[in-house]
Amino acid sequence: MNISVIGTGYVGLVTGVCLADSGNTVYCVDNDENKIKMLNKGEIPIYEPGLEEIVDKNVKNGRLFFTSGLSSAVKKTDVVFIAVGTPPMDDGEADLSNIFEVANKIASSIDRYKVVVVKSTVPVGTCIQVENIIGKKSHDFDVVSNPEFLKEGTAIEDFQRPDRIIIGINKKGTHLKAKEVMDGIYEPFVRTGAPIYFMDTNSSELSKYAANSMLAVRITFMNELANLCSLTGANVDNIRIGIGSDKRIGKSFLFPGIGYGGSCFPKDVKALYKTAKGKGYDFKLLKAADEVNSSQKEVLLSFILKHFKSNIKNKTFAVWGLSFKPKTDDIREAPSLVIISKLLSYGAKIRAYDPAAMKNTKKVFPRIEYAKDMYDALKGADALVIATEWNDFRTPDFDKMKNSLSDKSIFDGRNIYIPKKMKEMGFHYFSIGR
Ligand SMILES: NC(=O)c1ccc[n+]([C@@H]2O[C@H](COP(=O)([O-])OP(=O)(O)OC[C@H]3O[C@@H](n4cnc5c(N)ncnc54)[C@H](O)[C@@H]3O)[C@@H](O)[C@H]2O)c1
Repeated sequence: MNISVIGTGYVGLVTGVCLADSGNTVYCVDNDENKIKMLNKGEIPIYEPGLEEIVDKNVKNGRLFFTSGLSSAVKKTDVVFIAVGTPPMDDGEADLSNIFEVANKIASSIDRYKVVVVKSTVPVGTCIQVENIIGKKSHDFDVVSNPEFLKEGTAIEDFQRPDRIIIGINKKGTHLKAKEVMDGIYEPFVRTGAPIYFMDTNSSELSKYAANSMLAVRITFMNELANLCSLTGANVDNIRIGIGSDKRIGKSFLFPGIGYGGSCFPKDVKALYKTAKGKGYDFKLLKAADEVNSSQKEVLLSFILKHFKSNIKNKTFAVWGLSFKPKTDDIREAPSLVIISKLLSYGAKIRAYDPAAMKNTKKVFPRIEYAKDMYDALKGADALVIATEWNDFRTPDFDKMKNSLSDKSIFDGRNIYIPKKMKEMGFHYFSIGR
């Protein structure tokens, strides 16, 4: 099948390359000319494990193309995926201007039957709006909702082996053209039995926000519980194990930390709250999760100020981990940014290190020091802050760390070390809820 994917970011690029890898001819489109130039030179604009190899393979076998020509890509293809960004506006509502701009361009390029697939995360009712925009032109088409559930860091694996596929189609009937097309596209990815759920577009759109919001609330619950543990002397690790073995609760997403970040959870929680508000419903739980998450990003700072008796002017903090989570270079809403900016506001100095996200962080903090590796970051530092749980940081050379850090203090926002062992080794070790 010939497919175009509009928007070549974390979702669009992964979608495009995985669809090419399963045998389709795919045109990845972006209005960022620089991104397209890089991709055409074989450079990958984002860090995502395994992405470079699979892009390279599919470009070489002639099934994957990169272009900024939206109209010609749409004309060449039968299915058009929309995977552009839907960032939050100041009031938290999702900004749909990219979606509507692309819908208008598709409307003027449509020349025969096409399936238009909205893969971006969009508020309930958006597919109907897209349908209305394209419907102004008379060609036959279907608009389908197909939210994406991949996770940065394991995006290829998630796309190729999904837990489920959700497809929203409003037309009824068993032999719908759009349904057959979508079944055909996803058939190679559900061979192991993952279900494809068909539903109406409103339910499909809302399912995506529901999934992210539930996960965000779950993390937030554990973060609040960890804060309570710190006050009561209970250990959140024990509680996590205790509740996680209850089948109704399950073990995943129970690790407390310094708040969720990234391009999805924060914006999707806010956007779902705004959707509810727009319908006259005050979704209090979402508002609370958002507020708690913002303050959770400052928990390490409160530990630091207490330990140093608020005197951190001219102290140097090494920061390990800048991305919002491991295995990505994405720093959108990363807790590290809040911590660094707070430390700077108190007159502290920063030596930062991240295996993948330093290039992006330099755009936000051009003047802090960036180290060449994790141990280099510790040179001349008083204390270490761990903001992201990259594997590289899990079993470090503790002697080397102790010799470098003048105050021998570690503020671990991701609970990657064992408190008892750290104490025995002579560190001042602070973690979340233990
Ligand atoms: N990043 C994730 O982990 C993830 C996971 C699931 C869903 N989503 C959702 O997928 C969507 C895309 O997210 P992302 O992280 O890939 O965003 P991104 O910012 O990485 O990529 C979006 C791309 O769209 C391009 N674009 C914007 N407007 C355009 C236009 N008019 N024409 C052509 N290209 C245009 C941008 O240049 C950019 O390259 C969002 O709605 C997001 O919520 C993201």
